[in-house]
Parts: sequence; C-alpha cells; structure tokens
Amino acid sequence: MPIPTPARLVVLVSGSGTNLQALLDATADPAYGARVVAVGADREDIEGLRRAERAGVPTFVRRVGHFTTREHWDQALADTVAAFEPDLVVSAGFMKLVGEPFLARFGGRFVNTHPALLPAFPGTNGAGDALEYGVKVAGATLFVVDSGVDTGPILAQTVVPVEDDDTVETLHERIKVAERQMLVDAVGRMAREGFTITDRKVRFGQ
Ligand code: GRF
Repeated sequence: MPIPTPARLVVLVSGSGTNLQALLDATADPAYGARVVAVGADREDIEGLRRAERAGVPTFVRRVGHFTTREHWDQALADTVAAFEPDLVVSAGFMKLVGEPFLARFGGRFVNTHPALLPAFPGTNGAGDALEYGVKVAGATLFVVDSGVDTGPILAQTVVPVEDDDTVETLHERIKVAERQMLVDAVGRMAREGFTITDRKVRFGQ
C-alpha cells in the first residue's frame, strides 16, 4: 500500500500515552515521513491527551457510555477519525476493540501494538499472562487489526528477557521500552516505504 509523505497519523490512546509520545518525538524530524494529525481517546483526563495538547495536536474523546449502542459509538469514532483524513490509524494503548463500521473504513491501515509475542497471550493482560505462564522471553507485537482479538497480520515484533524477580509492572515497563522503539521504527517504515500483505505476510516496500 503506497502512502503519501508525510503520512497523516491518527493515534488512539486510553492511558499514559508513552507510545504516543515516542511517535510525537519521532515525527518532529521531517525525515521520519509522518506526522500526528490528531489523537483520540475513549476517556477524558488521561496523560495521553495531555501529551497531545502539549504538542499542539488536536484531540477528541468518544466515550462508549455516551452512545446508545456500541455500534453507534463505533460509527461515531470512525466518522471523527475520518474527518482527519488519516493514512494510518495507530492504536497505542487504546483499550477498546473496534467493530465492523470502523474496520470497514480503516481496515488494512489500522494498526495496534500489544505487549506480548502474539499469537501467545492475546487480550488485555498480555504481559501479566506471559509472566504467569513462566516464559523466559516476552515482548511486543505490532499488527494490522482485523476482526479478531489480536489476530491480525504481524508488522513487527520485539523481544525482551523475563527476569526471575520480575513483577508484572517491571516486566511491562521493560516491554514498553522495546515496544516504543518497535512502534516508531515500523510506523516510519510504513510511512516511507509503504507495505503489502499477502497470505498474512507483511512486507515493507511496494
Ligand atoms: C502498551 O504496552 C500497549 O501495548 C498496551 O498498553 C500499553 C500502553 O502504554 N496495550 P502507553 O499508554 O503507550 O504508555
């Protein structure tokens, strides 16, 4: 998929937004090939939104509870994101699954970062589930979102060791350091080189 340069990114967040910050920092360099045109969230009063405001990036919030059905929320989220005409939509710690209306609009250019080495440990507790299982390496995965839960084609993965005395907090922090670098590297390549998906295999370049 060819992407115009600089690529327009809309980033979705639900929490501290350190992955968003890594993208904001990377996009300060014009050579990176992308810029963040808006940041959206499913809740108010989070550091992720404050990071966007400090960077002068427009923000929006769409709360599920403000809509009569989940589908209406999904449609409203899709409409709002579409208004910013993104080339890529990045879910960076966005703690909501999107549905068909959103995927119909952004499928193939909506990516999500997950704190585990997929297909192991999908879901909301990737780092904790990996620790509990007793794995010796953990990591993060960037993938193209499809209609499953953390099942889409894999763009990039990064690996960190699990230490004997790790807690879920220490492990997740180690994962997040590697995850931010992976996200910045892969989104930059998507923007600058484009990418193709054939039989689940993602390749950068045309
Ligand atoms: C990341 O590890 C992401 O994979 C997970 O939640 C974390 C978000 O961190 N879903 P942050 O908000 O970017 O700091």
